[in-house]
Amino acid sequence: MQRRDLLKLGVLSTLDAFTGARGLAQTVASAPPLPWFALANSMDQELNYAARVEGQMPHNLRGTLFRDGPGLFERAGWRKQHILDGDGMIRCYRIASDGVTFQNRFVRTTKYLDESKAGQYLYSTWASQLPGGPARNARPDFHGGQAGISVRWRNNQLYAFDESFQPYQLEPQSLLTRGVTLLGLPSGLTVYSAHPKEDPVSGAWIHFGTQYGPTLQIHLTEFDREGKLNWHRVLQAPRYVYVHDFFVTERYIVLHLHPAFMDVASWQAGQTSLLGCIQWRLEAGGLLLVVHRGGSENPIQIETEAVWMWHGVNAYERGGEIVADCVAYDNPSTFVGPEASWRAVMNDQQGVVGAPGAIRRFVIAPDQRRARMETLDTGSHEFPTINPAHALRQNRYGYFGLGTDDTGFWNAIVRMDMLGGRRQQFTFQPGQYCAEPIFAAGPDKADSLQDEGWLLVEVLDSRLQQNCLAVFRANRIEDGPIAKVWLTHTLPLSFHGCWVQAE
Ligand SMILES: [Fe+2]
Repeated sequence: MQRRDLLKLGVLSTLDAFTGARGLAQTVASAPPLPWFALANSMDQELNYAARVEGQMPHNLRGTLFRDGPGLFERAGWRKQHILDGDGMIRCYRIASDGVTFQNRFVRTTKYLDESKAGQYLYSTWASQLPGGPARNARPDFHGGQAGISVRWRNNQLYAFDESFQPYQLEPQSLLTRGVTLLGLPSGLTVYSAHPKEDPVSGAWIHFGTQYGPTLQIHLTEFDREGKLNWHRVLQAPRYVYVHDFFVTERYIVLHLHPAFMDVASWQAGQTSLLGCIQWRLEAGGLLLVVHRGGSENPIQIETEAVWMWHGVNAYERGGEIVADCVAYDNPSTFVGPEASWRAVMNDQQGVVGAPGAIRRFVIAPDQRRARMETLDTGSHEFPTINPAHALRQNRYGYFGLGTDDTGFWNAIVRMDMLGGRRQQFTFQPGQYCAEPIFAAGPDKADSLQDEGWLLVEVLDSRLQQNCLAVFRANRIEDGPIAKVWLTHTLPLSFHGCWVQAE
């Protein structure tokens, strides 16, 4: 039974108290659901089955697409307040010569296990407080990691990452949870985020993580190819802001400290969630921190324009400059604030859609302590990816989700020539919404600058109430999918994934 049906029956009537929504049950009962609302439906089963393939799956596309995202949004009548905020669920598509299997499994985090046993939420999370006010929420150190943002493959191991919480290691074939991992480092040394970068040439794995104490500490951690610690460093951030992703080049790390200041005292007092304590202060401008990888010098600070950034595309060095491409917004109103679209969807409402996610480029001259920002495309983009073979070095193409309607979600994909050439786009049918496109290289063409391979895109078809995985030729996305893997159900929105080519 869908949550919407439960609402109609009044089973979830206590929901209003939790979300602060006005007349929610009445609104839901009287209005038909809008197409993208299914992105916020929980997945209440763990499945493993052969999926139906429509079209022709390329004969040399063999491997597994792993993806991570929130899978569970409610317990005991209480619903999470933001679509970014649910228990992590891994879903994978195993593409083999005899067909495609789909599997999904929740990460057995401490939070998930404790709450499953109790039958209710016990932990406040970064965008949702527990019912009961500050008395129950004034323990931010009790924040429950959900391992629900990204899944990464490294040295034949599979990891699910959250933000500001330690990752979980998973068993790649069964998706069973092995447990929290510190990636071989001592307890308390460092923290990780959901966006590590892998250097395809040296094999280094570079992480940043934010620690929300009396001051904001940014941990930088780099492993070598075998997983041995290269170096670790802690920076005292010059401003207390929210950071989700970062840039890495062959010699540098760049942190983009956009003016998303955090009123941490109100969060620690249990008055707001972590997301709720973010205050966008345009007038403060942006600040770039440039750090030498493995160095001990003070970071170079460079003031820049104020833009909100979730995700970088890639970064590399060009002469004496750093090129750092990203998706950046003039404001974060689609995601942050009481009426934000990404919050409203949890109440089956259409919320505020703010500035579009433009494709932007910082060109940074560290020696001159200067940076300029260019806008490469003004459309509404998000979830940028590249061929991972080109990470940290000049890439030709970037891949993006694109929104062409006013929902704040994505219904198209874009392949952008980041060197100034052609831009390709494919727009899905009305009522179809997509997630991050993942590049899968052909077996012999992994490092081709032309990106000869495929794009794998998870798509919600709201009219069929089914998801599919759409497979495109990466250099001809305008032609549309050459194959679709149809599931028998919908899936909630997923965030980040990785492709693992079969041996
Ligand atoms: Fe992310």
